[in-house]
Amino acid sequence: MCITPLARDMSLLFFLLCTLAVSSSNKVFIGYYSYDRATAPAGCAITPEDIPVDKYTHLIWSFATFNSTSGIIDPIEGDLITRFTNLKKKNPALKTMASFGGAGLDPSQWTNLTKTASVRETFINDSIRWLRQYNLDGIDIDWEYPSEVDVPAVVPLFKGLWDAYHAESISTNRSRLIITSAAVAGNWELDYYQPTIIQNYLDYFNLMLYDFYGTWMPTTGPLAPLYGNVSIDLDIHTCVNDYLNRNVSISKLVFGFPNYAATWTVSPSQNYLYAPSNGTGGDAGRCTNYSGQISATELADVLSNHVGQEKWDDMSKTPYLIYGDQFLSYENKRSIDLKLDYLISMGFPGGMMWVVDSNTRVSDQVWNRLNPVTTTTTGMGSKMLQLCVTTLLLSFLFV
Ligand SMILES: *[C@@H]1O[C@H](CO)[C@@H](O)[C@H](O)[C@H]1NC(C)=O
Ligand SMILES: *[C@@H]1O[C@H](CO)[C@@H](O)[C@H](O)[C@H]1NC(C)=O
Ligand SMILES: *[C@@H]1O[C@H](CO)[C@@H](O)[C@H](O)[C@H]1NC(C)=O
Ligand SMILES: *[C@@H]1O[C@H](CO)[C@@H](O)[C@H](O)[C@H]1NC(C)=O
Ligand SMILES: *[C@@H]1O[C@H](CO)[C@@H](O)[C@H](O)[C@H]1NC(C)=O
Ligand SMILES: *[C@@H]1O[C@H](CO)[C@@H](O)[C@H](O)[C@H]1NC(C)=O
Ligand SMILES: *[C@@H]1O[C@H](CO)[C@@H](O)[C@H](O)[C@H]1NC(C)=O
Ligand SMILES: *[C@@H]1O[C@H](CO)[C@@H](O)[C@H](O)[C@H]1NC(C)=O
Repeated sequence: MCITPLARDMSLLFFLLCTLAVSSSNKVFIGYYSYDRATAPAGCAITPEDIPVDKYTHLIWSFATFNSTSGIIDPIEGDLITRFTNLKKKNPALKTMASFGGAGLDPSQWTNLTKTASVRETFINDSIRWLRQYNLDGIDIDWEYPSEVDVPAVVPLFKGLWDAYHAESISTNRSRLIITSAAVAGNWELDYYQPTIIQNYLDYFNLMLYDFYGTWMPTTGPLAPLYGNVSIDLDIHTCVNDYLNRNVSISKLVFGFPNYAATWTVSPSQNYLYAPSNGTGGDAGRCTNYSGQISATELADVLSNHVGQEKWDDMSKTPYLIYGDQFLSYENKRSIDLKLDYLISMGFPGGMMWVVDSNTRVSDQVWNRLNPVTTTTTGMGSKMLQLCVTTLLLSFLFV
C-alpha cells in the first residue's frame, strides 16, 4: 500500500491542525454573576439562561452570606441557584462557584467569622456541606479587606479550606472543591492579605484590576489603567508587580477585567482626564440606577447615542468619554486588546470579569482571544480539534 499525494497532504493538514489544536491556549475565563440582575426589569435583567455558558470556564454566584457568630452559611431561597448550576448541563466543562463577601459586606463580619478557631472551622466545614448541597464546584473569598487585626486569621482561613477540601476529595473520591479569592489591587493591603503564603492554599487570585479611580478620588481618572503616570503609582502593571515581588507565582494570578464604566459629574468648563471632582457620580443608568458606575448595557446605550467624543489616554491605555458635565472611563476594543496582549505575554493562566452582563462586547473579546480548548462545540480550539480528527479519518480513507 502506498501513500497517495492526497493522503500525504491530508496527513500534513492533520499534523498542522492537531498541533494548533493542542498548542492553542487553554486559559480560564471566570465571570462573576450578580444574581440581583436576574430580577431586574425587562431590558435590564440577566437570568442564568441568558448567560452564554460556552464562553466561560467558571461562573461565580455573587454573593452568598454567612452568619459570622455561628459560622453557618445561609441557605439560598428560591430556584435561581438550581437554574444557575443547571448551566453545567449545557456546558459540562463549566465550573460553578459561589462568592462570599464583596464590597458591600462590612469587613467586621469577616473579622468575627475568622478570629475564633471554632467559628472559622464551622464555616470551613459547613462550606463543604453547603457547596455540595447546591451542586457548586468551589468557593470564592471576596474579603474586602483584611486589616491589621485579621493578620493571624487570614492564613488559617485559607489553609483550613485547602486542607478540608483535599480531605473531603479523598474521602469521597470527588473532584476537590476549587478555591479562589477576589484579590485587591493595592500594595497597602498585601501585608495583611499575605499572598506569598496563601498562594499555597488556593487555585487562583482573581485580581480586581479595576476601581483605580472612582468618585472617592479627588479627580476623574482611568478605571483600569494598564500603566501609571510618573506622579501616581495606581495602575495594573504596578499592582501585578506588587504580587510578583512578593514571590507570588504568575500561575496563580488571574487578570480581572471591568465590564462597566466609572462615571463622574464635573463642572462642564473643567471636564478632562484628572479634572477636579467633589465626589459627585455621573448620571445614574436606567437599569442599575446608581450614580458613579453604569453597567455594560447602559454604557452601550450611551455610546450608541454618539454623544461626546471618545478620547484615548496613551499613558493608561484606556479610552474616556466627555460630554457636558459627564466624564466616563471604561474599556473599548483597543484597551481590551492591549490588556490581553499583556495577559498573554506575562503568562497569566487566564482572565476574570466583573460582572456578567447581557452586553457581551467585552466578554466575547476576552473569550475569543483566550480561546480555550473546550469539550463543547464552540471555541476555536475545539473547532480545530474537530477538524483535526476529521482530517485524520479522511486521510485513512485515501490511503
Ligand atoms: C447567628 O447565629 C447566632 C448563634 O447561633 C444566633 O444567635 C443568631 O440569631 C444568628 N443570626 C441570624 C441573623 O440568624
Ligand atoms: C462582631 O463581634 C463584635 C463582638 O462580639 C460585635 O460587637 C459586633 O457587632 C460584631 N459585628 C458584626 C458585624 O456582627
Ligand atoms: C470540622 O470537621 C473536621 C473533620 O470532619 C472535624 O474534625 C472538626 O471537629 C470539625 N470542626 C468543627 C468546628 O465542626
Ligand atoms: C473514584 O472515582 C473514579 C471516577 O471518577 C473511579 O474510576 C474510581 O474507581 C473511584 N475510586 C473509588 C475507590 O471509588
Ligand atoms: C498624572 O496624574 C496626575 C493626577 O494624579 C495628573 O495631574 C497628571 O496630569 C497626570 N500626568 C499625565 C502625564 O497623565
Ligand atoms: C522572594 O524570593 C527571593 C529569592 O528566593 C527572596 O530573597 C525574597 O526574600 C522573597 N521575598 C518574599 C517576600 O518572600
Ligand atoms: C459638586 O460638583 C457638581 C458638578 O460640578 C455640582 O453640580 C455640585 O453642586 C457640587 N457639589 C458641591 C457640594 O460642591
Ligand atoms: C433610583 O435611586 C434613587 C435614590 O438614589 C431613588 O430615589 C429612586 O426612586 C430610584 N429610582 C428607581 C426607578 O428605582
